Amino acid sequence: MKKELVIMENPKSSISESIRTIRTNLQFSSVGKKVKSIFITSSVPGEGKSFISSNLALTFAQTGKKTLIIDCDMRRGRTHNVFGLKPTRGLSNLLIDNIEEEFKHYIIKSEIPELYILTRGTVPPNPSELLNSEGMETLLNLLEKIFDYIILDGVPTNGLPDALIMARRVDKVVIVSSIKYTPMDLLVNTKKSLEKVGADIAGVVVNKVPKKSTDYYSSYYE
Ligand SMILES: Nc1ncnc2c1ncn2[C@@H]1O[C@H](COP(=O)(O)OP(=O)(O)OP(=O)(O)O)[C@@H](O)[C@H]1O
Ligand SMILES: [Mg+2]
Repeated sequence: MKKELVIMENPKSSISESIRTIRTNLQFSSVGKKVKSIFITSSVPGEGKSFISSNLALTFAQTGKKTLIIDCDMRRGRTHNVFGLKPTRGLSNLLIDNIEEEFKHYIIKSEIPELYILTRGTVPPNPSELLNSEGMETLLNLLEKIFDYIILDGVPTNGLPDALIMARRVDKVVIVSSIKYTPMDLLVNTKKSLEKVGADIAGVVVNKVPKKSTDYYSSYYE
């Protein structure tokens, strides 16, 4: 199992505890409203979307719910990496295939019970176009019929329309913010632009919090 999957590697750690709390909050926020698709975004690259998405998907699967993680970052996605998979065909390839007939063949069953993965696929020349295509909508509609939870490992908002369009489509949005890298004004702007398009923001995950200031990096996974 890969080291980044802290939920498996170190289930009693405080980071694992925090990720389970995020799961519980998302489950409770679904009272009276369907919460199936959860889009993970951030202000800028590298704040921990893939780390949080993968571990969050794992905690949902651990409750016995059929869970899918989709790597929506067709440019630089690395969800396959987190799960020790090869970057073979995935979302980008599926979106130009016959979606309704073929989608099940693209989904990989992981070693973890109830956890399924759709990797990013071959890096396409037009990821934004694909992500916001009719095909993506068709695909999500099909997947929502099969899975209990769909975690979309997303792209940063970063002044680009991609994340905003997806954020509006899904049931809940989680913003990941790295305490070290994210300037506060960027985070505020991210939240504002998400609100402007009517996204349902579940909350902000403050990631990479140092345990004590002198022990910053080594405390990540503990
Ligand atoms: N809480 C954490 N503890 C330890 N390492 C972390 C944590 N969050 C993220 N990282 C590490 O930081 C790096 C960047 O994280 P990650 O790839 O998840 O960010 P991202 O937001 O998905 O980036 P991108 O915008 O490039 O997709 C990775 O090497 C990841 O392992
Ligand atoms: Mg990522």
